[in-house]
Amino acid sequence: MKDEKILKAKDIVKEATSITVLTGAGISAESGVPTFRGKDGLWKNFRPEDLATPQAFARNPKLVWEWYEWRRKLVKEARPNPGHLALVKLEEEKPKFTLITQNVDGLHKMAGNKNIVELHGNLWQIRCTRCGSVEEDFNVPLEKIPPECKKCGGIGRPNVVWFGEIIPMSIIERAIKSIKECQVMLIVGTSGVVEPAASLGLLAKQTGKVVIEVNLEPTLNSTLYDLTILGKSGEVLPLIVY
Ligand code: APR
Repeated sequence: MKDEKILKAKDIVKEATSITVLTGAGISAESGVPTFRGKDGLWKNFRPEDLATPQAFARNPKLVWEWYEWRRKLVKEARPNPGHLALVKLEEEKPKFTLITQNVDGLHKMAGNKNIVELHGNLWQIRCTRCGSVEEDFNVPLEKIPPECKKCGGIGRPNVVWFGEIIPMSIIERAIKSIKECQVMLIVGTSGVVEPAASLGLLAKQTGKVVIEVNLEPTLNSTLYDLTILGKSGEVLPLIVY
């Protein structure tokens, strides 16, 4: 059954000239980066309200930065896995390809994908809370936390989207445009519970696209999609792409 689904997905992807992919934490799990939900998920051991909200940062920027420093150290050791690399191959092969990711770990960029929409920002970028300038800083640990803006001396924050914050409209518009223009959408390693990412697969179905999901387990939206292939993305994606 699973093999038949993979062969069907392989044919659909092969025929398509325009593909949009949405990824979540699951694609980085095989690189050793913890996901958020599920048995060993980050939200099992930490409360998002304490660490991933503007209020938490205003209350205690050092504590929030200590958590992000821990995540940066974890991700610094991580390397792209075969699932990431399969998406690089797909981008090389397809005339039109967009990779929308909820992940902030930067592993898609490290793997070599180019047309990436980082819905939730990037762990390696620091945004000044005063002047808004954004800088990449790969130092682990950082020189000091919270970091100071080199331009104005303001306090730097992780350039990620926290709970209670909105994603810049320009980023959402890029994601939606890529879904409207694609023939096939792959949805990989996301539990589909956080908006607006969770509705992107629905938008694809409402605009007549073929949607293929790859996940360890069925998700809330699986019944909406054309195919749900249960398995590790690092194993399934190479079988679909190569
Ligand atoms: N291969 C495929 N899927 C996997 C794998 C794997 N090796 N390992 C885990 N998964 C699946 C899980 O079954 C789950 O459905 O990946 C999904 C991970 O779900 P979450 O931990 O909820 O991560 P995600 O969907 O990316 O979360 C969305 O929530 O906390 C916020 O901003 C954070 O971007 C994150 C957003």
